[in-house]
Amino acid sequence: MSDSPLLTRRPEWTALEDHRAEGLTQLRELFADDPGRAERYVVRVGDLRIDYSKHLITDETLALLQELAAATDVFGLRDAMFRGEKINLTEDRAVLHTALRASRDAVVKVDGENVVPQVHAVLDKMSDFAGRVRSGEWTGHTGKRIRNVVNIGIGGSDLGPAMAYEVLRPYTARDLTFRFVSNVDGADLHEATRDLDPAETLFIVASKTFTTIETITNATSARSWLLEGLGGDDKAVAKHFVALSTNAGKVTEFGIDPDNMFEFWDWVGGRYSYDSAIGLSLMIAIGPDRFREMLDGFRIVDEHFRTAPAEANAPLILGLLGIWYGNFLGAQSHAVLPYSHYLSKFTAYLQQLDMESNGKSVQRDGRPVDWQTGPVVWGTPGTNGQHAYYQLIHQGTKVIPADFIGFARPVGELSDELKAQHDLLMANFFAQTQALAFGKTPDEVRAEGVPEELVVHKTFKGNHPTTTILARELTPSVLGQLIALYEHKVFVQGAVWNIDSFDQWGVELGKVLAKRVEPALTEGADVPGLDASTAALVAAYRELKEV
Ligand code: F6P
Repeated sequence: MSDSPLLTRRPEWTALEDHRAEGLTQLRELFADDPGRAERYVVRVGDLRIDYSKHLITDETLALLQELAAATDVFGLRDAMFRGEKINLTEDRAVLHTALRASRDAVVKVDGENVVPQVHAVLDKMSDFAGRVRSGEWTGHTGKRIRNVVNIGIGGSDLGPAMAYEVLRPYTARDLTFRFVSNVDGADLHEATRDLDPAETLFIVASKTFTTIETITNATSARSWLLEGLGGDDKAVAKHFVALSTNAGKVTEFGIDPDNMFEFWDWVGGRYSYDSAIGLSLMIAIGPDRFREMLDGFRIVDEHFRTAPAEANAPLILGLLGIWYGNFLGAQSHAVLPYSHYLSKFTAYLQQLDMESNGKSVQRDGRPVDWQTGPVVWGTPGTNGQHAYYQLIHQGTKVIPADFIGFARPVGELSDELKAQHDLLMANFFAQTQALAFGKTPDEVRAEGVPEELVVHKTFKGNHPTTTILARELTPSVLGQLIALYEHKVFVQGAVWNIDSFDQWGVELGKVLAKRVEPALTEGADVPGLDASTAALVAAYRELKEV
């Protein structure tokens, strides 16, 4: 047991509590007193311009938060991560997603061995394979070229490539079809394959462990679909199935040739893995060069996080702002609101990254926490959200810090008319953060001639905090930069909260129980130890199934 002080008893923590107790200034006043904050509270990293001026903070707040980061040795843990130390304590593993984008000549050691050559060997193997699929050189069992790629995986083995494929759609080979199957609901695989020709379809089975029941079940059904469509010859599997995994034994057991396996390693967490072999479907879609551009983007932010001083370190600042709201202002959630159609799956991806990492209530040394940890992360593309849930952000009762992500230029082969819509999109983007920050006073409402009884309804208190992340264009590199920014932000928060951001024991119980309950549903078997509520539900299910 560690005898380090509990977080909430640290003087740096209580100093923040005292600071909070002094009351919050209104953003209107903060800007009136100090218009310079619009330029001062901006941090640039790579192509990202990150504006945090519309936060409920002063220089003093920032200084106190930085003192908390120093006291909890965030940078010490960061350096241990980059050095390859086993900072994932409960699984006794290094945490080295940063090695996945290290340059060829870098040296990153795990247990004394430089892992960078292995990383690049797999990237080269992926590039070769992706090139062959894209050119048509890799053909299916009947000699037809591959036209459809179906990635089967779940969690980190699905969300990353599925999200990045959407984000980078303008860069994808439009003559290929990509689908992503994750749900063990048979409808997912059915809808993904119903209009495909098996002779032209490549399945990528993505599973770090290769034991995840949803993925193995879907992969088994995909194999049946393929063999049925191709006349039952088992040899077809070799041309239509590849695996992405750390578990060569299980891959072989499944019937996939180890030559068709793209490896990664136990020091890559599932939710940090889409820039590993798990990104093969994406690489086929955008090509090896674009994939490497994306890795370069990740590396820009890795280097920034590793070397930038605390006061100009973007992931540190964003992480600390989240701590300010979650631990001192009662925020329970964090909205991520991209103003780009292509980022439609971005927030869903961040949900796993953030909530699986920091949804913990035990410290690294096993003691319980008595402070809030990871927030509920949510959001969808901004303009759609404006006509759905923004009402609650503007006039509801909750504290909801939000990230607004937008771009100066549209991407893709849009017509001039559609390109011109971009300014309207971004007008909404800027208008929303303005309205959230500064609201509308009763006097301003009255000045518009609003009847007195409606003034209170049409008043906006404002003071809703937002970060504005702006870049010129949504390129592969910019995507890598954004993801690395959030990865390291999550890291910072886990470090301050003293939790292990790299395990996920919370998802294990459900998996074990599902395996125990399944025989009761399929064979009507008794499940020993089933609680009364679940037993009644299972009985009702069986009855309904029979009717
Ligand atoms: O949801 C739990 C989890 O272990 C995730 O962390 C992981 O991304 C996902 O399941 C899939 O695991 P695998 O890649 O081993 O199939």
